Amino acid sequence: MKKVMLKLLSAAAMVGMVATSAQADEAAMAAAGAEVFKRCQACHSTDSSKNAFGPSLIGVVGREAASLPRFAYSEALKQSGITWTEDNLRKWVSDNTKLVPGTRMRHVSITDPAEQDYLIAYLKTL
Ligand code: HEC
Repeated sequence: MKKVMLKLLSAAAMVGMVATSAQADEAAMAAAGAEVFKRCQACHSTDSSKNAFGPSLIGVVGREAASLPRFAYSEALKQSGITWTEDNLRKWVSDNTKLVPGTRMRHVSITDPAEQDYLIAYLKTL
């Protein structure tokens, strides 16, 4: 009986450990993403919901493209009909001018899938 209890306890401890390490992974990914985001920061503000040279990216994951008030988006982005799903964000950061020809955003090229993962994990925290 004691043995069974011990087994149950250690199983519970293991489940707990898995959950914590998944959370730690996410935090580590977001931290790595903050590094990648340094390439975006010159134009995109994160300390508030203010627009800078580029629109605020707070809450961007899942948002409709060109949907913030008080930002002068390009006609191209306004007409794009895109929603910022993870998939579209990957395409955007790997080649934004290909996804939306005529966008005002300077060309960026983050093609490494790991870097894209980190960046998206970070954007989700905004
Ligand atoms: C040189 C300035 C600049 C840099 C660097 C830059 N952006 Fe942008 N970004 C803009 C501008 C300007 C727009 C608006 C584009 C338009 O209206 O066509 C924009 C738009 C966006 C949008 C669409 C937002 C919306 O509300 O629809 C996303 C997402 C985005 N940028 C992500 C990024 C990421 C991620 C990076 C870094 C890898 C980055 N940008 C780097 C200037 C920049």
